[in-house]
Amino acid sequence: MANTASQIRSSSNRFHLSAFTASSGRNNYSAKAENFVSYIAMIAFPEKFLKILKSAQKVAVLTGAGISAESGVPTFRGTDGLWAKFRPEELATVEAFLSNPKLVWEWYLHRRDLMSGVSPNPGHYALAELESHYPDFTLITQNIDGLHHQAGSKNLFEVHGNISKNKCFECGEPFTGEINLESEGLPKCHCGGRIRPDVVWFGEMLPEKALEESFEASGRAELFLSVGTSGIVYPAAAMPLTARRKGAYLVEINVEPTSLTEYADWFAQGKSGEILPEIVKRLKE
Ligand SMILES: NC(=O)c1ccc[n+]([C@@H]2O[C@H](COP(=O)([O-])OP(=O)(O)OC[C@H]3O[C@@H](n4cnc5c(N)ncnc54)[C@H](O)[C@@H]3O)[C@@H](O)[C@H]2O)c1
Ligand SMILES: [Zn+2]
Repeated sequence: MANTASQIRSSSNRFHLSAFTASSGRNNYSAKAENFVSYIAMIAFPEKFLKILKSAQKVAVLTGAGISAESGVPTFRGTDGLWAKFRPEELATVEAFLSNPKLVWEWYLHRRDLMSGVSPNPGHYALAELESHYPDFTLITQNIDGLHHQAGSKNLFEVHGNISKNKCFECGEPFTGEINLESEGLPKCHCGGRIRPDVVWFGEMLPEKALEESFEASGRAELFLSVGTSGIVYPAAAMPLTARRKGAYLVEINVEPTSLTEYADWFAQGKSGEILPEIVKRLKE
């Protein structure tokens, strides 16, 4: 745990995508008992949370793969996660693309396939609805599945890109043509550069403006929700802590504790597709 916090404080490299390894927190997890609420029949909302939910003007939310789990999109680190079979360092990096673009493309086409038939779940819709209740609402997602957009969220930053989009590896121009490895081979841009998925790979810079605005929104938020993220992929994982440090009430929604849990004012343990709609319901009461 100390690892995580000190790493955040000392991080001079907050624009690059990086992931901590297993030793970064979950193994020596020690959350305070009062942060835990058990969801057996109903959600026990802390009074302070309800007060802030109703009085806040500025709200920010960070989501991760967990919010899409109930839509059937596999998470990376769950037991049935995609990365249980593939090592991310072998596939989601510039080096991997340069040394074996076909393998990387096959993996992305496979993931695209998995994501193509899925729809937003009640968690995505609840966040889109939440947006309409606040003058200043920012949704930051690490997901590349486009489901928040589909659910109707407007002030949205997809800080890791979007898996349905492509761009040129050399000139960065968007590419809208078909990708068919069998018949066409690896796609090329008119500049001659290779076409790649428009997602952020490990070691790459995140889109600078979106990231700046995401950190600004985190810093000014009175209420911050961290939803379905393991909190080990940086720099996004630093956003909830930035919010907390600047005075936000920090809520974590996750089916299991993470390295963020001990910093949360309220750890709402359970499925985001069940808890988020309940939050919207309480807001409207
Ligand atoms: N849907 C997607 O677009 C998708 C899918 C897989 C991975 N990713 C990538 O994963 C990386 C970041 O990791 P991450 O933290 O987003 O995901 P992760 O796989 O590391 O963690 C997912 C988290 O969600 C929790 N979770 C699972 N089901 C849940 C549910 N129903 N409700 C609430 N929480 C639930 C898990 O306990 C876990 O902590 C990002 O780079 C992102 O681009 C995206
Ligand atoms: Zn090009």
